[in-house]
Amino acid sequence: MQINFDNKINEIIKILALEAERFGVKIYFIGGLVRDVLMGKKPLDIDILVEGDAIEFVQSLGDFVQIKSLHKDFGTIKTQILDVDIDFASTRKEIYPISGCLPTVEKIGCKLEEDLIRRDFTINAMAFLINPNLDFTLVDKFSGQEDLKKGILRLLHDNSIIDDPTRILRGLDFELRFNFKFDSNAQKLIQEYLKAPNREGLSVDRVILTLRKLFCSPDRAQKAFREFLKRNYYKILFDKCDLNYSEIEKAVSLFSPENLSEVYINYIFAQNIEKKEFKNRVEIYKYFKTLNVEDLCVYWAKTKDDNAILYFNKLKNVELKISGQDLLNLGFKQGKIFGEIFDALLEAKLADNCDIESFEDEIEFVKNNFLK
Ligand code: CTP
Repeated sequence: MQINFDNKINEIIKILALEAERFGVKIYFIGGLVRDVLMGKKPLDIDILVEGDAIEFVQSLGDFVQIKSLHKDFGTIKTQILDVDIDFASTRKEIYPISGCLPTVEKIGCKLEEDLIRRDFTINAMAFLINPNLDFTLVDKFSGQEDLKKGILRLLHDNSIIDDPTRILRGLDFELRFNFKFDSNAQKLIQEYLKAPNREGLSVDRVILTLRKLFCSPDRAQKAFREFLKRNYYKILFDKCDLNYSEIEKAVSLFSPENLSEVYINYIFAQNIEKKEFKNRVEIYKYFKTLNVEDLCVYWAKTKDDNAILYFNKLKNVELKISGQDLLNLGFKQGKIFGEIFDALLEAKLADNCDIESFEDEIEFVKNNFLK
């Protein structure tokens, strides 16, 4: 099997393959790259699995490789070779001491098969053996290619979801991205897990990372969030939730935030947001100015506070043009009066039909109201 890389990448891969032969290890393309190539897509990231110790292998390559970071405990190493980002990983055997926790590495440099079986779905557990002739041999121990053709998400073993419940969310992502389906066994294991999730050791950070991926595409985020609620996947995190997709979708349409992942994730975790009391527009302005548009969205979804809309549509672009130096130039002495002047000016500028626009208008306002 050939891969449609550009010439520079082909040259790099050829050199890596020859070096691997010299070093005495087998190296493979792995995971998403193999899946994507078999689906006829151009691979985005280059991940290479070393059947052995990836760090030792990469270090043996000398100046050819620029090491960006390395993670000794996991045997992973991020590099740049002739300006191309390539991530290397050692084959590793992992165990999950507690459901949902980050895995513990039992062995680095294990057999390829032991590394493949720790993965999420058969479609992600295939490898291409890298040869110097750039004709790569597919290693498919779990019939991943057949599942890929059928569009099926099949787990590699029955403990997979208990080990790592974020695979439920990864599966949903693959369903929406590729129009795939969990097979009946995966569906059964997911239902069983959601009935009695054990969250004691759950890595919430990993859940958040997976959610970020799930909600990152503007085309799919809305559907993904609806499915997340409909299928009770929130139970990975909580027993109950008072989330409502229509209120957050309304908020998204009102505020057009750029980062939908942040909106949906913050909404999921926003349990205790309450409507704020404001005495005037200055307070409204000062409070909402501290929030980014994603947080504003979530605040509105949880409270339906019209002040958030008032701020967003009318107040958010109001800025004072004068500074403390201008007040000194007008003869004021630094102190409490500065705050009083700025607040009064802000209040005037935040009012409907305000005609204070230019720097000169603001100076005029200060003179008229504070110098007489
Ligand atoms: N993986 C896993 N369980 C997880 C996360 C990842 O088994 N919870 C394995 C899968 O074999 C996956 C590989 O690690 O293919 C790399 O993961 P990642 O880079 O997150 O995803 P890709 O499968 O490469 O897919 P894509 O980046 O296209 O989403």
